[in-house]
Amino acid sequence: MTASLHTSLNRPLSLSARIGWGVGVILCLGIAAYSARYLLNPPQTPEQALGNPVGVPWLVVHIGGAVIALLVGSFQFLPGLRRAGRPHRWMGRVYVAGCLVGGGAGLILSFGSFAGPIATAGFASLAVLWIGFTGLGWRAAMQRRFVEHRRWMIRSWALTLAAVTLRIYLPLVEISDLPFLPWYQAISFLAWVPNLMVAELWLSRTGVVPRA
Ligand code: HEM
Repeated sequence: MTASLHTSLNRPLSLSARIGWGVGVILCLGIAAYSARYLLNPPQTPEQALGNPVGVPWLVVHIGGAVIALLVGSFQFLPGLRRAGRPHRWMGRVYVAGCLVGGGAGLILSFGSFAGPIATAGFASLAVLWIGFTGLGWRAAMQRRFVEHRRWMIRSWALTLAAVTLRIYLPLVEISDLPFLPWYQAISFLAWVPNLMVAELWLSRTGVVPRA
């Protein structure tokens, strides 16, 4: 599989990028498996759903869609799979469906967050951008504008990875003995704004630019 890892259609990934990709996939699979516990044992009451008044049924819907997006998306950037054509297109449709379902339910959940309006603002902006970027990426692919497709999907993926960064930051807050509520509110933004900035920086530094 490694022989088919490239940043562009022709350029092989460096060793450090391959290692980064491998670590990223392991984190994505780990978070997906950890999140799937809600699907195996669905919350029956809002208390079991993070105290979110709309947590039943929306938390399970959210996690169902988001887990699919996280699992499928990890493999969509493999050029070998992309060149194969059909698997990339089918997995892409599943990824888009996962993002739209996960994002739609995430948007509904954001209004019931136990952490109040600041967390609502953080999660709701994330949900709207996640749905928007993914939709723009899908539309660009349908219109065969593949450079724009890649750019939007890289942004969409940076937001999908909010699931990973959020679950790195939360334990750090707990072990640092920081006050949970304000940090949870901050993390509703910190989980995705830096991801998006890194994606934009990467897009501006690599050759993934639309034709003039
Ligand atoms: C990127 C867009 C996403 C948005 C807007 C979003 C939004 C939310 C919101 C609003 C909540 C409820 C928080 C509360 O009530 O305070 C939540 C919980 C949760 N989300 Fe997401 N989420 C996103 C991505 C993901 C992804 C990709 C996964 C991974 C599979 C995921 C897994 C979970 C889990 C497991 C919970 C329950 C809390 C926990 O056990 O950590 N989310 N999400």
